[in-house]
Amino acid sequence: MRSRALFLGVLCVTLLGGACADFRRGPAADACVKAPENDPVFETDVYPILQVRCQDCHSKGREAQSSRFLMSGNAKEDRSLVVMLVSPADPNNSLLLLRGTGIDHTGGQRLFPDDPEYATIRDWIASLPSATCP
Ligand code: HEC
Repeated sequence: MRSRALFLGVLCVTLLGGACADFRRGPAADACVKAPENDPVFETDVYPILQVRCQDCHSKGREAQSSRFLMSGNAKEDRSLVVMLVSPADPNNSLLLLRGTGIDHTGGQRLFPDDPEYATIRDWIASLPSATCP
């Protein structure tokens, strides 16, 4: 029975793009959670900090343009690439925060762990699901 359910589940996910969620198991540790369309904390609290502290270099035509952290100036557009640089299970070890605080970062130290801005970014990271869809 179990393998039949599994087969149907795979079929559903493959053919219907997950429309028959009944066959899928509940959230597993490795479940991938789709990024929300709107993320007001990111848009109004986190992104403006990155714009002030990082965008000068991390944008087209600037010195960090070949890095994966390339800001467009639009929070909604950039959210997915920022999410790729964070580790919700261990927020302080997120590449975004490590590089931002100057670790192995050509751009030097732009964030300070004692600053409220650092806490804002860290708390946002901690609020994210631990696995996001690619
Ligand atoms: C003075 C310019 C400058 C500023 C400002 C700057 N960076 Fe960078 N950053 C760079 C450069 C150049 C690189 C690519 C070389 C390297 O990894 O050091 C980089 C790389 C990175 C990477 C690695 C991206 C990858 O592809 O792996 C991250 C993450 C990062 N920076 C985060 C930040 C954050 C967060 C801020 C703001 C808080 C910031 N940077 C501000 C110059 C800057």
